[in-house]
Amino acid sequence: MQAVEATDIVKTFGDVVALDGVSLEFEEGIVYGLLGPNGAGKTTLIRVLTTLLKPDSGTATVAGVDAINDPVGVRTKIGLAGQFAAVDEFLTGRENVEMVGQLYNLSKEEASSRADDVLERINLIDAADRPVRTYSGGMRRRLDLAASMVGRPEVLFLDEPTTGIDPGSRLDLWDLIEELVEGGTTLLLTTQYLDEADRLADRIGVIDHGKLIDEGTSDELKDRTGGSVVEVHVAEQDRSTAASALTPVAGGELITEGQAFMIPAGRGAETLTDAVRALDDVGVKAQDIGLRRPTLDDVFLTLTGHRAQEDSEPDAEPARRGRR
Ligand SMILES: Nc1ncnc2c1ncn2[C@@H]1O[C@H](COP(=O)(O)OP(=O)(O)OP(=O)(O)O)[C@@H](O)[C@H]1O
Ligand SMILES: [Mg+2]
Repeated sequence: MQAVEATDIVKTFGDVVALDGVSLEFEEGIVYGLLGPNGAGKTTLIRVLTTLLKPDSGTATVAGVDAINDPVGVRTKIGLAGQFAAVDEFLTGRENVEMVGQLYNLSKEEASSRADDVLERINLIDAADRPVRTYSGGMRRRLDLAASMVGRPEVLFLDEPTTGIDPGSRLDLWDLIEELVEGGTTLLLTTQYLDEADRLADRIGVIDHGKLIDEGTSDELKDRTGGSVVEVHVAEQDRSTAASALTPVAGGELITEGQAFMIPAGRGAETLTDAVRALDDVGVKAQDIGLRRPTLDDVFLTLTGHRAQEDSEPDAEPARRGRR
């Protein structure tokens, strides 16, 4: 069965077209990552699929149930952790999770034992009996995630689950998400981070201005972006010597970006080694040299011709990394 099957979803708010005909489909048992910049429409799509918002047009089923016309039927099959933690300040962490469990029609005992389990897994057991108003921002997010899992939903929706979470806890969360998926949960997560989609998602959809503009595995997207580059910084007086030495390494395609030289690194670390040697041969010491994997920004630039950050300067050479 398909976990999610959405066709031509349109949602406007006044003049703003938040979703401009999004179609999305994926099977059970996978992690689907929806990647997009601020305002792309990620939260709006999640709200439609989780029955919190009616689209202007389009159809959607989640776990085989009509998400637009049978919201009650869908709600028992899904879990949601929204972009902003929806937790009750005055209840304890444990009470929050138990309360959500009861919304899934679990008995008091069952809700309580599952609450223990998820709080343990999400590393909140020590703080479980404190009121949430004493929690930090990251703890609230984790609590919200715990609550979204307590009903053991078939399909779990996580809207930017690690935004605002420190790097260490972020890694813990990734582990937890991976465990959940091994346990059979299907997951739709949104993120602004390619590394997160990379690590967790089996398939990635790129959304921009309310449209799904590309879809594929992480490797496929990166390949379309032009793969990795070696980025080299040298002192001003060494620039021309370095350029001649690096041009053959770049196969004649040496790219200058601001103060940096960019070498398409089709051979990954080997290209990096070659660049180091080439500079060494002409006696130039790099100020900085490194292998750079494509970022979300690079994917965006290639796919859309603009940077993910809307307010930045338009790039003068939008296709500089080219398509392979
Ligand atoms: N309730 C609303 N009323 C008016 N406009 C809205 C509403 N909800 C969303 N929008 C607009 O719809 C567009 C998509 O918003 P959405 O929240 O779905 O983006 P997003 O991809 O989740 O962004 P972010 O990464 O910042 O969370 C934006 O232009 C936003 O301003
Ligand atoms: Mg959002």
